[in-house]
Amino acid sequence: MKQNLRILLLGSGGREAAMAWKILQSPRTEKLFVAPGNAGTADHNVSLDPMDFDAVEQFVEQNSVDMVVVGPEQPLVAGIADRFAGSGVKVIGPEAKGAMLEGSKEFAKEFMFSHGIPTARFMTVTTDTVDEGYNFLESLKPPYVLKADGLAAGKGVIILQSLADAKDTLADMLEGMFGQASSTVVIEEFLSGIECSVFVATDGEEYRILPVAKDYKRIGEGDTGPNTGGMGAVSPVPFADGEFMDRVERSIVQPTLEGLRADGIPYSGFLFIGLMNVDGYPMVIEYNVRMGDPETEVVMPRIKSDLVDIFEGIADKTLALKKLETDPRACVTVMTVSGGYPDAYEKGKEISGIEKAEGEECILFHAGTRADQLGRVLTSGGRVLACSAFGADISEAAGKALRGAEAIEFEGKYFRRDISADLK
Ligand code: AMP
Ligand code: GLY
Repeated sequence: MKQNLRILLLGSGGREAAMAWKILQSPRTEKLFVAPGNAGTADHNVSLDPMDFDAVEQFVEQNSVDMVVVGPEQPLVAGIADRFAGSGVKVIGPEAKGAMLEGSKEFAKEFMFSHGIPTARFMTVTTDTVDEGYNFLESLKPPYVLKADGLAAGKGVIILQSLADAKDTLADMLEGMFGQASSTVVIEEFLSGIECSVFVATDGEEYRILPVAKDYKRIGEGDTGPNTGGMGAVSPVPFADGEFMDRVERSIVQPTLEGLRADGIPYSGFLFIGLMNVDGYPMVIEYNVRMGDPETEVVMPRIKSDLVDIFEGIADKTLALKKLETDPRACVTVMTVSGGYPDAYEKGKEISGIEKAEGEECILFHAGTRADQLGRVLTSGGRVLACSAFGADISEAAGKALRGAEAIEFEGKYFRRDISADLK
């Protein structure tokens, strides 16, 4: 076993900033490169497009990279792990076949049904079968859930209150509302309950369940307004107690991993299961084949074990030998975002107050930021900086994270003050 690893982390968001922070705490990390990264990882950034596999491969060879950690889903769905198969380079993330669990909602739903994994009833529709789709909608009770089959940058799910709107939207989606991603649409029964995010690290055989988190997707307080990439997160989730997690493990995690093996689909890396707690019983809303953002900004701080050691377990099929220790404290992250987000917003605003926020005992994870030539930190995205904080309980953690978000300054800054308030 090589002691000191040279690691390339692909991605540029708050998730990757949190992973980089944790990777850098490992004595096993000899060198970390982040591609392309953001202002928070400036000392490690390399200008590489994670989707340009030739360039990534060349960089890995030229810089003797031992391990490639893939943050976002797009390179996984496009087969970055396949590219390095058999090369000796350790890739954290599944090959394209396994990444279909996120890359195609139809595939994921068929998989769940064939392995008896609890999920909402569904029907898959294309332009040829649109009339059957209308009939299925008529058989359901409102609200109606329509999902683009392919990757749509987190925007491909639409929930409609009326049957007429649902039918119109189904037609619009099939006609290219999300381009090719919605040429197939999954219609689903609506599940009512509270959501949470379960993260599983697996080497294909063995698995470890990471701290459970809940994210807050809507822009407005009280979960109102349009969906965003995520406005904050909390871990742990009080309702995900021992009994609930036993059900998650027995009815979802184990059948999923067994189902993948039975179907001959190799899978290693992270599996992110978006769950609905329906009267105490977990049902799968979606699978993702990567960590969540902004959940990672509360999950990484709560992992006490050496992350690189766990990565090695994933890549070398030695996860059985690895212990996962977690911090019992609560962690909350509050995302500061650009004014106008998730619609149009301005970029290039100077950010200040980072040290002040750190003085509030926050760990700051950069998301949409970049450093200019003068070393100033500027906004460069909708979600700008995540302020994560620990507390003895959720209230204390949320209080600190909020004070951190208040201390951050840039023109047009907005954040939600009610992250985790529903769980206290
Ligand atoms: P996704 O992009 O798959 O994460 O879906 C976005 C959001 O839509 C989810 O986080 C849920 O809040 C909601 N959603 C998706 N599917 C359902 C469903 N079957 N029932 C209720 N809500 C759903
Ligand atoms: N926070 C949800 C996601 O990363 O998809």
